[in-house]
Amino acid sequence: MEIYKRISSGNLIRWSIFYFLPVFVTASEVSLQETVEGFIGGSAVLPCSPEEPPITIQDIHVRWKIKYMQNVYEIINGQVSVEEQDQQYKNRVESFPEEYLRGNFSIKLYNLQHTDAGEYTCYIFMKNKSEDRSVELLIKEKSD
Ligand SMILES: *[C@@H]1O[C@H](CO)[C@@H](O)[C@H](O)[C@H]1NC(C)=O
Ligand SMILES: *[C@@H]1O[C@H](CO)[C@@H](O)[C@H](O)[C@H]1NC(C)=O
Repeated sequence: MEIYKRISSGNLIRWSIFYFLPVFVTASEVSLQETVEGFIGGSAVLPCSPEEPPITIQDIHVRWKIKYMQNVYEIINGQVSVEEQDQQYKNRVESFPEEYLRGNFSIKLYNLQHTDAGEYTCYIFMKNKSEDRSVELLIKEKSD
């Protein structure tokens, strides 16, 4: 956004030189973003894996959010926590505890609604390192 604003404000040449590389990198990151499709009433798995699997589950804190705002799901010290979960997601999300040690913090969302569409971000807090992953969920009408 910032970049476009600056370019359109007239300093085209100057800002193209300064921002050529960042623009290029940003574009390739966007195209790498994952997209998942689901149908109304169906389910969808939203993937999330850190670069390296955790050494112990107790060190892990994973928080899933939608649109950087609402809490969808949380794993604290290897335990599921729904304390701060948004009502919209109550009883509709599960994860795969047997997969945690393999670095798989994917969640499965059930009974999909139109309002579930959007960008989900999975924040992984490990002892030494924090990472995040984003995935776009598209919701479609059932095609029957
Ligand atoms: C994570 O686990 C889920 C459930 O078993 C599976 O569907 C998904 O493919 C796994 N993801 C990876 C990256 O292994
Ligand atoms: C954390 O950092 C220490 C020291 O740099 C290293 O020995 C250890 O393997 C790291 N742990 C993880 C989970 O990366």
